[in-house]
Amino acid sequence: MISRRDWFRISFGAAIGLNPRMLQLLQTGAVRTRAIPSTGEQIPVIGLGGRWISMNSSAEELADHRAVLHALAEGAEGAGRVFDSAAGYGGGGSETYAGQWAQEDGFADDIFWATKVNVAGRGGGSVDPNNVRAQIERSFERLGVPVIDLNQVHNMGDPPTQLGVLQEYKESGRIRYIGITTTSQRQYGALARVMREYPLDFIGIDYAIDNRVAEDRIFPLAQDEGIAVMVYLPFGRSRMWRRIGDRPVPKWAAEFDAHSWAQFMLKFVVAHPAVTVAVPGTGDPQHMVDNLGGGRGRLPTQDHLRRMLELVESLPGG
Ligand SMILES: NC(=O)c1ccc[n+]([C@@H]2O[C@H](COP(=O)([O-])OP(=O)(O)OC[C@H]3O[C@@H](n4cnc5c(N)ncnc54)[C@H](OP(=O)(O)O)[C@@H]3O)[C@@H](O)[C@H]2O)c1
Repeated sequence: MISRRDWFRISFGAAIGLNPRMLQLLQTGAVRTRAIPSTGEQIPVIGLGGRWISMNSSAEELADHRAVLHALAEGAEGAGRVFDSAAGYGGGGSETYAGQWAQEDGFADDIFWATKVNVAGRGGGSVDPNNVRAQIERSFERLGVPVIDLNQVHNMGDPPTQLGVLQEYKESGRIRYIGITTTSQRQYGALARVMREYPLDFIGIDYAIDNRVAEDRIFPLAQDEGIAVMVYLPFGRSRMWRRIGDRPVPKWAAEFDAHSWAQFMLKFVVAHPAVTVAVPGTGDPQHMVDNLGGGRGRLPTQDHLRRMLELVESLPGG
């Protein structure tokens, strides 16, 4: 009898209208992985940012997001594809739908479930640990998994209390890795202090070919302290797409197996030795397949990296 998962695998390409070349890319070539420094566990360098799945998404958008998650799950053999969510994304829709689809379609065990907690709200300030525990418990319910691979404090909210609660969960074995995130350069100083003072497995931070501030202090510190780096906003959301416009990808990008701008930008990001995984966001299954190509084949050399920077600096809007 054909399993639900096999059925989806067979019909997957047709279901999302992938062209044969894209399907071939999805299925062939070694997936590049990096070790999480605190344990040595290997995870693929390209995952998926789940910010755009929402309780308010239309049925059509949800069908696309479901196919995106399948593309992530089918994009490599073995476990450990990173899906990055947060309790606050899409009114809980990101965790709820991703968890439901992965359970129904039989690939929940193949995903490295990363989510975030923050009950501090935008104002910051100190929080009640019971509220932190309640939000973490809701993440377990929504994702439908007994163990969450990674839970990080979102946007630097009350690190002593929220990291303290995450540490309890880690000690109990229900959360495997803990960390903290920011995509605001104003918070990099505070982030650096937390990286020195707390036993973190991960940080999450913004980094892109035209946004390299994290290279100055945060990446060297992560390497010194043995902390994994999850990269957010690898395209600067719409920023880099606007700057690139309709320019063709340079021919020399083929020398490091980049066949699209997304692969060009993702390969720049994961070429940095401090980076463990990048989680580009997309609601388009073909883009997901394209992005996974950033985790296969050769990486740019130092000479390529220099040329890539020169090219990006020559683009408008820098
Ligand atoms: N403080 C935090 O913790 C924090 C803050 C921000 C973000 N994050 C995480 O980082 C993830 C990524 O951030 P993001 O989604 O905001 O920005 P991003 O990954 O830099 O860019 C996403 C944009 O790029 C487009 N895109 C993706 N792949 C593409 C491709 N192959 N070709 C053309 N366009 C492509 C997407 O459009 P399509 O949908 O059309 O593909 C979307 O508009 C989030 O989902 C979230 O998990 C965390």
